[in-house]
Amino acid sequence: MEEFFKGSLLIVGLGFMGGSLAKALKKHGFNKPIYGIDINPKAVQLGKKLGVIDNGWTAYKEVPWEEIDTVILASPVGTFESIAKQLKEHIGKDTTVSDLGSTKRLVYKMEKLLGTRFVGAHPIAGTEKSGVEHSIDNLYEGKKLIITPTENTDKFHLKKVERLWKQLGANVEYMSPELHDYIFGVVSHLPHAVAFALVDTLRIMSNEEVNLFNYPGAGFKDFTRIAASDPTMWRDIFLENKDYVLEAIENFKRSLSTLEQLIKEGKKEELRKFLNEISLLRRNLD
Ligand SMILES: NC(=O)c1ccc[n+]([C@@H]2O[C@H](COP(=O)([O-])OP(=O)(O)OC[C@H]3O[C@@H](n4cnc5c(N)ncnc54)[C@H](O)[C@@H]3O)[C@@H](O)[C@H]2O)c1
Repeated sequence: MEEFFKGSLLIVGLGFMGGSLAKALKKHGFNKPIYGIDINPKAVQLGKKLGVIDNGWTAYKEVPWEEIDTVILASPVGTFESIAKQLKEHIGKDTTVSDLGSTKRLVYKMEKLLGTRFVGAHPIAGTEKSGVEHSIDNLYEGKKLIITPTENTDKFHLKKVERLWKQLGANVEYMSPELHDYIFGVVSHLPHAVAFALVDTLRIMSNEEVNLFNYPGAGFKDFTRIAASDPTMWRDIFLENKDYVLEAIENFKRSLSTLEQLIKEGKKEELRKFLNEISLLRRNLD
C-alpha cells in the first residue's frame, strides 16, 4: 500500500458505507490518518467518538488539504457534482479522487470537473441500514468491487484504487460505466423500486376495516426488507440511472401483465409452466 498512499485519506459522507470503509482500512493496516467530512455534524462527532476516523469536519476550509492524498466520495450520488466543485478548489494536483456510489455514468461528469484522476468504483455490498453507527469492518471482504474506468482514466490513479480495494479483500472487476448502469438498473435498482411499490400497495389496500400492515407474512418481510433503505440515497439512484431504471420497470410490468393475463384467463397448465420456469431460474441462483 505504501508505494501508492503517501498521505491521509478523506472520506466525504461519513455514513454506513464511508464508515465501513474507514473501519476496514484500519483493520487491514492502512497506516495513514483517515479523515471524514459530512454536512451532518452528528455524523462527524459520532465518527470521532467511535474511533472510525482520526478527525473530521463539516466545512471544507477546515480540512488540512496539504496532507490529503486520496478522497473517496461516500455520500448520495446526487451530491457528487457539487462536492466535486468544492474539491476542485482545495485538492492538490496529484490527489486521487474516487467514490463508492451506486450509479456510474456520473463518472463522465466527475472527469470533466476533476480530470483523469477520478476513478469510479462501486462495492457490491451493503444493507438497508444507514449511518456511521451501523458501519462494520468486514463489509467489503469477499465482495465484488466494480471499477468503471473511461478511456481517459489515469493509470496510476486506477491502480491505486484497485490496490486499496484488493487490500480490503474485495474481488475487483472492471466494466464500462454504461454496462454497469444497465446491469445494476436491473439487478439492484429494479428490486428496490418494486419493494417500495409493494409496501405502497399495502398502504393503498388498507381500509377502515383492516390495516394490512398488521399481517406481514414472512414472504412480505423478506421481499421488502430493502424498502426500509434511505430515501435520499434511492431517489438519487433512480434519477441518476433514469433511462435504465425505466427500461427495467417497463419489462417488469410486461412480466406482471403476463402473470395477470394467465390468472385472469384461468389457464391452469400455462400458469404452472410459467411459474415453474421462473422457480427453476431462482433455485439455480443459489
Ligand atoms: N447502502 C448500500 O447498500 C450501498 C451499497 C453500495 C453503494 N452505496 C452508495 O454509497 C453511498 C453512501 O451510502 P450509505 O448507505 O453510506 O448512506 P448513509 O445515508 O449511511 O450515509 C451518507 C452520508 O452522506 C452524508 N452527506 C449527504 N450529503 C452530503 C454532502 N453534500 N456532503 C457531505 N456529506 C453528505 C450524510 O449526512 C450521511 O452521513 C451512496 O452513494 C450509495 O449509492 C450504498
